[in-house]
Amino acid sequence: MTSVTCTAPVNIAVIKYWGKRDTQLILPTNDSLSVTLSQDILHSKTSISANKEYAHDRLWLNGKEEDITKNKRMHNCFRETRALRRRMEDEDSSLVPLSTYPLHVCSENNFPTAAGLASSASGLAALVFTLAKLFNLPNSMTDLSRIARQGSGSACRSLFGGFVAWEMGSEADGSDSRAVQIAPDTHWPELEALVCVVSDAKKGTSSTSGMQQTIESSPLMKERLQIVPGRMEAMKKAILNKDFQAFAELTMRDSNQFHSVCLDTFPPIFYLNDTSRGIIQLIHEYNAANGGVYKAAYTYDAGPNAVIYASKEDMKEIIQLIAHYFPPSEEKKSTYFTDPYNVLQSKDSLGA
Ligand code: ADP
Ligand code: DP6
Ligand code: CO
Repeated sequence: MTSVTCTAPVNIAVIKYWGKRDTQLILPTNDSLSVTLSQDILHSKTSISANKEYAHDRLWLNGKEEDITKNKRMHNCFRETRALRRRMEDEDSSLVPLSTYPLHVCSENNFPTAAGLASSASGLAALVFTLAKLFNLPNSMTDLSRIARQGSGSACRSLFGGFVAWEMGSEADGSDSRAVQIAPDTHWPELEALVCVVSDAKKGTSSTSGMQQTIESSPLMKERLQIVPGRMEAMKKAILNKDFQAFAELTMRDSNQFHSVCLDTFPPIFYLNDTSRGIIQLIHEYNAANGGVYKAAYTYDAGPNAVIYASKEDMKEIIQLIAHYFPPSEEKKSTYFTDPYNVLQSKDSLGA
């Protein structure tokens, strides 16, 4: 039996991916850009074993077996990586025919799954990266990102560290739809992210189904698609110049617009809750109290949990502020994590 274990980090988009032009190949309707968080804090850890005695492919997620017979996305990743392995085996008959062996996958997320903290990004990136190691594939991270994209769109960005764009591409076969690193994690070490777990409950509408409903029913989405290309350019510039003012405003505006198209979806999708909105208001008041100079920026994925970007210098004060207005509650196991690069406090309580 051959077995390999790897971890992959979460990435949190500052220009959001929301909408597919091809649901089979997972090709998006717009470019997106994210920050990969340090995997010391939030990660998926995946072990895969290949054994010819196994009956079929199986997945255990967070200790519980999942029925993957209808999970097309996982099968996309299995199929693509097995095809690459098969090519190697065809060229070298001394290789163990791992491409024909059933696989057992065991994965753990050390943070809430399906709660809007990008578990599909770290989870499917970990799956593809671990498969690549198991099969000893010589392929580049760019190749692997194209495969991870077919597991979950956002997963293509988790194969790179630092600041990462997912270029939507224009080819019908998806060959140019993959992630590209804009800058490494060392580029902007003063920047940190605070992850506030407002709720660890599984969301009511998955990202996959939510974005499809938006594409089918939101007239506002057409407007968004006109706006994103300009934002992508401005965001790349802000990151390369380490311009926190531009970075913060673009991040908050894009998060708000993404949640607006969710509200414009018919029937509407509500990912934010009262606590999420309270944190948005608090961050705006905090920035206003600093003379309108942005010290912090919030962003929310498809869930109620906040991610706050700020400088390392200001983060301590921001944690105190949030802990003051949203004090720890006994019943709810709410937590916050800070990231990336320099951990201020790895785990604490945040009320909701
Ligand atoms: P999130 O906001 O957490 O990314 P999604 O709705 O996009 O939520 O995706 C959640 C789904 O991703 C889970 O229901 C599961 O199918 C898949 N997933 C999450 N973590 C893993 C993992 N570690 N390994 C395999 N699949 C995973
Ligand atoms: C709001 O990548 O989870 O987090 O491709 O259907 O698996 P699928 O969706 P997913 O969508 C992520 C949406 C988002 C924004 C982002 O990460 O860019
Ligand atoms: Co997801």
